[in-house]
Amino acid sequence: MTAASPSTPAEIAELLAFYASAGVDDALEDAPINRVAEAAAKSAERRPAERAPAAPRQEARPEGRTAPEQAPERVENPPAPLSGLDASTIPDAPARVRAAAAVPDEAQAAAARQLAASASTLDELRQHMAAFDGCNLKFTAKNLVFADGNPNADLMLVGEAPGRDEDLEGLPFVGRSGRLLDRMLAAIGLDRNSAYIANVIPWRPPGNRTPTPHETEICRPFIERQIELVNPKVLVNLGGPSAKTLLNTTEGILRLRGNWRVHTTASGIAIPAMPTLHPAYLLRTPAHKKLAWRDFLEVKAKLRTLE
Ligand code: URA
Repeated sequence: MTAASPSTPAEIAELLAFYASAGVDDALEDAPINRVAEAAAKSAERRPAERAPAAPRQEARPEGRTAPEQAPERVENPPAPLSGLDASTIPDAPARVRAAAAVPDEAQAAAARQLAASASTLDELRQHMAAFDGCNLKFTAKNLVFADGNPNADLMLVGEAPGRDEDLEGLPFVGRSGRLLDRMLAAIGLDRNSAYIANVIPWRPPGNRTPTPHETEICRPFIERQIELVNPKVLVNLGGPSAKTLLNTTEGILRLRGNWRVHTTASGIAIPAMPTLHPAYLLRTPAHKKLAWRDFLEVKAKLRTLE
């Protein structure tokens, strides 16, 4: 594959828009590498007998295309990598592209920490998050998914990240897994008037991909402050990512679930936390619903003791 370098601001903006929509948020190398050609070359090396029949196809290949048998190709005149561009200086780049080109880094996490700490109410926190441009996920999401339910509730549940339905409505857990979550809450006599629901990540990752550790670190101060401001009596971590992020553990959810842990807020408040299975997992693995049922009964009992 060869590619001409984008040279005009409009071409560079178009390339950045392509990167952003493809979910590219980090530059690993200074020059692009054609991984497809690399993989094809490796597999051809492993299967020499298959190389001969491939030769005629190579002749027919249009000029400029790479034969799989060739050595991995570095793109000639590669487009400038994301890290080598300061998109904020490109006058024609749309605002969302300019901002999306900001590669998440420690500075963004520090900015998020400062912003989150400065919010003294949930409304302020929501406004700060809506104005925050340091997480690339914001630029592919349609809405900020802040929370649903009652901020004065004794129980707060935290999931991983919004999906398509949540992104469209701007509310957490409104899709299929949300409907199951509603039934799980109803089973212990609760609903969205008596529980508060949020996510670790408030913007939908494109194509529902797993949020990167960078993105999680950038968003972590917001959910931690949200928990601190709600100050629930009991926290439920829905799924591994929520449990790992908020309980500072690397243990898998199947080992964690069903055992009380503690979430400690920045100001030192210790909140009992119950890690449990994510409703989306339960939809795929209904045999494990009984485990989540046990966890929810634990939560119900704990709330009773704290009344
Ligand atoms: N899964 C989550 O973790 N959160 C949502 O809001 C929806 C699905």
